[in-house]
Amino acid sequence: MTQPARIALVTGANKGIGLEICRQLGRLGFTVLLGSRDTARGESAAQLLRAEIPNVHAVHVDATAPETFVALRERIASDYGHLDALVNNAGIGLDWDLTADNVPIQTIRDTFETNFFGVIELTQILLPLLRQSPAARIVNQSSILGSLSIHAQPDSKLQDIKPLAYNASKAALNAFTIHLAAALKDTPIKVNSAHPGSVLTDLNPEGTLSVEQGALTAVRLATLPPDGPTGGFFHLDKSIPW
Ligand SMILES: NC(=O)c1ccc[n+]([C@@H]2O[C@H](COP(=O)([O-])OP(=O)(O)OC[C@H]3O[C@@H](n4cnc5c(N)ncnc54)[C@H](OP(=O)(O)O)[C@@H]3O)[C@@H](O)[C@H]2O)c1
Repeated sequence: MTQPARIALVTGANKGIGLEICRQLGRLGFTVLLGSRDTARGESAAQLLRAEIPNVHAVHVDATAPETFVALRERIASDYGHLDALVNNAGIGLDWDLTADNVPIQTIRDTFETNFFGVIELTQILLPLLRQSPAARIVNQSSILGSLSIHAQPDSKLQDIKPLAYNASKAALNAFTIHLAAALKDTPIKVNSAHPGSVLTDLNPEGTLSVEQGALTAVRLATLPPDGPTGGFFHLDKSIPW
C-alpha cells in the first residue's frame, strides 16, 4: 500500500535558511509548503525549487498576522488533512547595535511578535493537523544567542553579542519548546529547538556557514525517528545548554 505523502510547512522560507530547509525536505520526499509573508516573494522562491522538487507550494503566512494562520489551517485541512512537520523558521533581528540599557521597548515588542508570539499562535492553530499525523515533528528555529547559561558566563564566546530583544526572544522561544514538549509528552509529536550555526544570510552578513550547512539541524529535527529526542536544543546532533 502506498503511504500518504508527508507534508511539511516551513515559515520564512522565501530566502535564507528557510528556503534551503524546503529544498532538503523536498529531496527527502516531503510535499513542501513554502511559507512567506509576501506572496510574490514566496511564489518566485517556490518556482526556483520546482525544477528539482515538483511538490513545493507557496503559502501565505505572516508571523504578525494571525488571520493568515487560520486561512492556512483551512487550506492544509482541505488539501491534505494532516501536517507532518512544522518548521517555525521565520525570524527577525532588529537590535544588533543596541544593548539592554538602550533598546527601545517597542523594538523588543516587535521582535517578540515575530520570534515568539507568532510561533506560539501558529503552532497552536496547526496542532489539530499535527495530531492527525502518525509522527509529527515541530522545530523551533532558535539560536545559541538564546542560551542563558552561555550568556551568563562572563568569558563566553557570546560575551560581546548581547542584543536583548533578539536574544531574549530566542530564550523565550526555547521556553516554548520545553513547555510544548511537556504538554505533548503522551503523543508521538516531538518538539525541539534548533541552532543552525552562524550562517551567511541577510540576517547575518558575517555568517561563516552556508545555508546548506545551516539547514541541516532543522531538517534532522523535522525527520527524527520515533526514539529521537523531544524538548531539546540542538546544533546538528549536539545538545546546546539552555
Ligand atoms: N543566519 C544565522 O546565522 C542564524 C543563526 C541563528 C538563528 N538563525 C535563525 O534562523 C531563522 C532564519 O534566518 P535567516 O538567517 O535565514 O534570515 P533571513 O535570510 O533574513 O530570512 C528570514 C526569513 O524570515 C522571514 N520573516 C521575517 N519576518 C516575518 C514575518 N513577520 N512573517 C513571516 N516571515 C517573516 C523573512 O521574510 P522576508 O523576506 O519577507 O523578510 C525571511 O523569509 C531565523 O529565525 C533566525 O533567527 C539564523
